[in-house]
Amino acid sequence: MDSIKNKLDIQKMPEHIAIIMDGNGRWAEKHGKARIFGHENGVEAVRSVVEGAGEAGIKHLTLYAFSTENWERPKSEVDALMELLVHSIENESELLMEKNVRLSAIGNLAKMPLGVKEKLDGCIEMLRKNTGLNLILALSYSSKWEITEAVKRIVNEALEGKLQPEMINDTLFGQYLNTAGIPDPELLIRTSGEYRISNFLLWQIAYTEFYFTDKLWPDFRKEDLFEAIADFQCRERRFGKTSEQLSM
Ligand code: IPE
Ligand code: IPE
Ligand code: MG
Repeated sequence: MDSIKNKLDIQKMPEHIAIIMDGNGRWAEKHGKARIFGHENGVEAVRSVVEGAGEAGIKHLTLYAFSTENWERPKSEVDALMELLVHSIENESELLMEKNVRLSAIGNLAKMPLGVKEKLDGCIEMLRKNTGLNLILALSYSSKWEITEAVKRIVNEALEGKLQPEMINDTLFGQYLNTAGIPDPELLIRTSGEYRISNFLLWQIAYTEFYFTDKLWPDFRKEDLFEAIADFQCRERRFGKTSEQLSM
C-alpha cells in the first residue's frame, strides 16, 4: 500500500489535482440501495483522498462536489445531498483541523441553502490559518457560469474605465475566475468510467493531464490517488514543444 506512495517522485508532484467524483448512484445501485447511500459512502473516499493528498504534499485539491446542472436532479436527492454536506462539514472539521487542511469553495455559493452556506463559512474560517493542503470544494459550480461571471466583471470594469481592453490577456482573465491565485491543475481525475468534463474548470484545464478510472467514487482511496499521480509522472508534458526541446 505504502509502496505505491514511495515510488512517487517528490520532485514531480503536481501542485494542484482536481477530481470529478462520479459514480455514487451506480455504486448504490450495485449494492441494491438508494442513490443517497452512494453519496454517503462517497464521504469515506473524500476523507481518504484528502489524507493522501496531504501525505503526498499536494498543495491544492479541487473536488467537484455539486454542479450547476445537479440542481436539476429530483428534489429529494438534492435535499439529501445538501443535508449530507452539512453533516459532513460538521463531522469532518476536527479531522481537517488535525491534518492542517485549509478549506475554500468555488461556485455560485449564493445559490446554496443558508444552512449549508453558514456551516461552510464557519468551517472555512476555523481552518483559515492552516498551512497544509488547500481543499477546494466546487459547489453549485459550472465552468461556463464561472467564465460568464468573469466576462461580466471585466466588461463592467471596462465600462467604468478601470480597465483598458488592451490589458485583457489570459493571465488577467484568470484573475477574474473563482480560482484566481491558484495554479491550474496539472492532473484531473474522473472516476466511474465516464470520459467527459461535465462543465468543470474548462479554462483551467487547457494543459492538464487527464486520468480516467472505472472505479466508482465510493471505492476510490488514497492508493488510487497515488496510482494516478504515478501515471501522471510517466507522462511527457510538452506544452506544444518537441520532445527534443524539452531535454535541451
Ligand atoms: C457523483 O455521483 C455525485 C454527484 C454528482 C453529486 P452521481 O450521483 O453522479 O453517480 P452516478 O453517476 O449517477 O452513478
Ligand atoms: C459531474 O457528475 C458533477 C459532479 C461530480 C459533482 P455528473 O454525474 O453530474 O455528470 P454527468 O451529468 O453524468 O456528466
Ligand atoms: Mg454521475
